[in-house]
Amino acid sequence: MSPLLLLLLGLLSLLLCLLRRRNRRHGEPPLIRGVIPYIGKALQFGKDAHRFLEDHRKKYGDIFTVHIAGRYMTFIMDPLMYPSIIKQGRQLDFHEFSNKVAPFTFGYPPVINGKFPGLKEQIKRSFNLLQGDGLKSLTESMMGNLILLFRQDHLREGGSWKSSSMFEFCFTIMFEATFLTLYGGPPAGCRHSGMGPLREDFLKFDSMFPLLIAQIPIWLLGRTKAIRKKLINYFLLHRMSRWSNTSQFIKLRAELFEQYDTLSDVDKAAHHFAILWASVGNTAPATFWATYYLVSHPEALEAVHQEIHSVLRLSDMEFSSDRDITMSRDQLEKLLYLESAINESLRLSSASTNIRVAQEDFSLRLDTERSVSVRKGDIIALYPQSMHLDPEIYEEPQTFRFDRYVQDGKEKTDFYKGGQKLKYYLMPFGSGSTMCPGRFFALNEIKQFLCLLLLYFDLELEEGQSRATLDPSRAGLGVLLPATDVRFRYRLRKV
Ligand code: HEM
Ligand SMILES: *[C@@H]1O[C@H](CO)[C@@H](O)[C@H](O)[C@H]1NC(C)=O
Ligand SMILES: *[C@@H]1O[C@H](CO)[C@@H](O)[C@H](O)[C@H]1NC(C)=O
Repeated sequence: MSPLLLLLLGLLSLLLCLLRRRNRRHGEPPLIRGVIPYIGKALQFGKDAHRFLEDHRKKYGDIFTVHIAGRYMTFIMDPLMYPSIIKQGRQLDFHEFSNKVAPFTFGYPPVINGKFPGLKEQIKRSFNLLQGDGLKSLTESMMGNLILLFRQDHLREGGSWKSSSMFEFCFTIMFEATFLTLYGGPPAGCRHSGMGPLREDFLKFDSMFPLLIAQIPIWLLGRTKAIRKKLINYFLLHRMSRWSNTSQFIKLRAELFEQYDTLSDVDKAAHHFAILWASVGNTAPATFWATYYLVSHPEALEAVHQEIHSVLRLSDMEFSSDRDITMSRDQLEKLLYLESAINESLRLSSASTNIRVAQEDFSLRLDTERSVSVRKGDIIALYPQSMHLDPEIYEEPQTFRFDRYVQDGKEKTDFYKGGQKLKYYLMPFGSGSTMCPGRFFALNEIKQFLCLLLLYFDLELEEGQSRATLDPSRAGLGVLLPATDVRFRYRLRKV
């Protein structure tokens, strides 16, 4: 953040704070204020949220309230208490927050009932098409698109080693394949022109994402507004209506938006753009981390490779590099070790905050003994990364163990804290009624990408690089990016 911006925010909020400075009341959790009014502890939190929360937990216990960017956030750090928060009662609401933040970030008008009767409910209903039969056709289509891109961009070369940057490699393929799968292809040919510049713009927007989510006005963020406009314009109706093989999910949403005269063409396009971000913003880095951890753990890579071959063999589909392979949803479900490896990489790389807003002053029950008072408007927050890296739950939490979620040939689901079995132990996709509706599709896509990558190529990291580390700037908002890209080599496998 620029110093000028800080100063502005500081001054603005000094006023607010003088007007209503808060003191801890009886029954409330310990209250931690920052030195700079308004900004509170936001800067420290933004720098390294995990460390920040761990330090405070040691000092204040499992429940404390922090003043962050103008809001009071009460963190519940004990995962044994998660169920009582997730079991969303009448007094805790997620949507009040997301309904304000998402429109601000992506540039569409807030989806409020007065102006758009029924829209909110119908949008929610559209998410059903990311599951069930909808998921089946999305998954089939994704496979076709991934193979198309692999064939055209990577399978032509002979059998010599090629060198590349891993994040860029994963991101480029996942971005275009997801785009084609959701929005469809151009009227002529099978790939859209301009994917490269669109991807560049997407990354520029993505780097500003944390500031937009923090409600920093977009005009303070340099060229971000112009870049967002370009991204949105890609989805204007006169373009989208000419694309073919568009998914049912996007088609239904497009039809839905047409029912509202109160939505302008740009508003509708902005809604479509928001879905692009939701579907790629986390999936692409998640794909990177899964690839990175497998390639840097050859024994895991080999085990998963064997598993993929044996699942193909089960359905009499011996792999050969000149024939297209398909992986149905059923086959993907059988890939237990691959799924465990992906989940393990999500454990190590995801850092989303789960947020609920108190609808009234009330006493929040946390377990049989404890409850705390919360005030109307306060945020109750879970930070699952702290759970994901808790050595009591996960032995050697910083170590990648591809089979951490497998036991006796089945999925392992028993993880403990303080001798008690945890209901929630892995939460990359949020929780409760606001849980990510695209999670099944996301896992399938990542599996498909890795199946193709591992079947087609020998893979190695280049020597002399330090370990990939997490860039914390998106902490709290999803899967983190790597601090620097990683160089790797790949070569067509001899089959
Ligand atoms: C590894 C990949 C992904 C991760 C880690 C992820 C994570 C999340 C999280 C944490 C949320 C917020 C949930 C909450 O606040 O409780 C969310 C929401 C959402 N995600 Fe995902 N997501 C991923 C992939 C996808 C994909 C592929 C789609 C496909 C369209 C998608 C669509 C959405 C949508 C539409 C929402 C908003 C839901 C709502 O408004 O209720 N996500 N995601
Ligand atoms: C639509 O998808 C089908 C099946 O994936 C494919 O065969 C066809 O070529 C695609 N059509 C266009 C115009 O891209
Ligand atoms: C991986 O995580 C997903 C969602 O978080 C879950 O549905 C699935 O059962 C997990 N699989 C394994 C093997 O842990």
